[in-house]
Amino acid sequence: MTDALTAELRALVGEAHVLDDPQLTAPYGSDWTGRWERTPRLVIRPGTTDEVAHAVRACSDAGVPVVPQGGNTGLVGGSVPHEHEAVLSLRRLDRLGTVQPLDRTVTVGAGATLAAVQAHVRPHGLAVGVDLAARSQATLGGMVATNAGGVHVLAHGMMRAQVRGVEAVLADGRVLRRLGGLEKDNVGYDLPGLFAGSEGTLAVITGVTLRLVDEPAHRVVALCALDGWRAAVELTARARREVRGLVAAEAVSAEALELVIETAGLPPPFEATPGCALLLEVAGPEEPTDELAAVVERAADDLDVGEVAVGTDARDRARLWAYREHITEGLEARGVPVKLDVTLPPRELAGFVEGLEDHLPESVRAYTFGHVGDGNVHVNLLRDALVPAERLEDTVLELVVARDGSISAEHGIGVAKAGWLGRVRDDTDLATMAALRGALDPTGVLNPAVLRAH
Ligand code: FAD
Ligand code: MLT
Ligand code: ZN
Repeated sequence: MTDALTAELRALVGEAHVLDDPQLTAPYGSDWTGRWERTPRLVIRPGTTDEVAHAVRACSDAGVPVVPQGGNTGLVGGSVPHEHEAVLSLRRLDRLGTVQPLDRTVTVGAGATLAAVQAHVRPHGLAVGVDLAARSQATLGGMVATNAGGVHVLAHGMMRAQVRGVEAVLADGRVLRRLGGLEKDNVGYDLPGLFAGSEGTLAVITGVTLRLVDEPAHRVVALCALDGWRAAVELTARARREVRGLVAAEAVSAEALELVIETAGLPPPFEATPGCALLLEVAGPEEPTDELAAVVERAADDLDVGEVAVGTDARDRARLWAYREHITEGLEARGVPVKLDVTLPPRELAGFVEGLEDHLPESVRAYTFGHVGDGNVHVNLLRDALVPAERLEDTVLELVVARDGSISAEHGIGVAKAGWLGRVRDDTDLATMAALRGALDPTGVLNPAVLRAH
């Protein structure tokens, strides 16, 4: 059966784009975290929407499920096989459509990387509303499928808010086309919005129409040394209230700052490591440095703001962002962390982060950082082999739920958080999700291991 399928797929998409040699398929079987590793039985790399449609139909007919894969930068095990699924790589669908400056939209293939789309729209004075450190690898299809968040959610929302249209292959191989790009279009259910965050379980996204935002003429970044997360939450709240054009508020705790300095070989930004470093970015048509400086100065005494490093030109801004953007790589260099990605109401955030270590075994090192502006903190734990990962996950997630938070802010459920689905969504909720999934994928051909409560 599989040999017949391989032959059929090779006839469809070309010999070179159906891989079954384990040496070639192995890289598609382990994701960015290194936590999941399985050599895929088959990797299919279609180059057009029609080829995706035919491939999905052929796999469905042969009873072989598929895992849609973009840049493979996902952090919850959703982009790699867990049983005998084939990998359906969308990376060759990387076309970049014409930018429509009046409509402020562009249509791109699902396999286009974020960095490629950013470079494509920049000459028009436009930008993609979502930005994240994995930009050179993460694809637009994967970003929609995970409803990625990133560093500009404060200003522009998550990926779902950027989606003006989607082209997608359904589980039976039919192609759904809704690439209209209109700002207002209330004709029926918001299917593109439904596919955002569906993690490859409802359809294979082949194209996306994105709304674009202005690329601001001016940007300024300030990295502020603070005592701890309480001050970071409070200063962020003041900046949101008092500064027009606040686009990012990112916090890095002392352990994460020290880690990134060591692993990325960066010079320390401050004389002494602060309890928490808060990065604020403001952007707009006018030079925003004075406005940002004013809010930080007003907070200097009561929030005990220490040193502040400021970057106005692109090089200095990138230098300051490096303390935030290279943490994930730094952690991977130290081992396979237990990765948690949670949101809390801002009123609970500091108490959660600052109380966390009291609940963890002494041998565990906790690294906390994240998008403090939207309540999203990434908790990464490095442990010795004697401390089971599940125990640590349960400890942290129980604390999050007790404080009215969410167990997944932006990375999704994948397989990593599947055990928790039934603890945070009630029976009616789970049954509604299962009904949608069953209606769109009755035979379970799309990413069967992902988003399954157990
Ligand atoms: P993949 O990893 O290939 O896939 C992710 C999921 O989407 C899988 O379930 C897969 O089946 C599905 N999928 C992929 N393509 C398609 C498609 N065309 N159709 C249907 N389903 C598909 N995430 C954030 O939200 N915010 C961040 O700030 C952030 N920063 C990151 C920084 C680093 C250094 C790294 C390594 C990751 C970061 N991530 C972040 C996680 C990751 O980059 C995002 O989740 C990204 O959206 C995944 O895109 P991808 O193309 O790599 O998707
Ligand atoms: C980030 O914001 O850097 C990420 O979402 C990646 C991570 O959690 O490691
Ligand atoms: Zn993040």
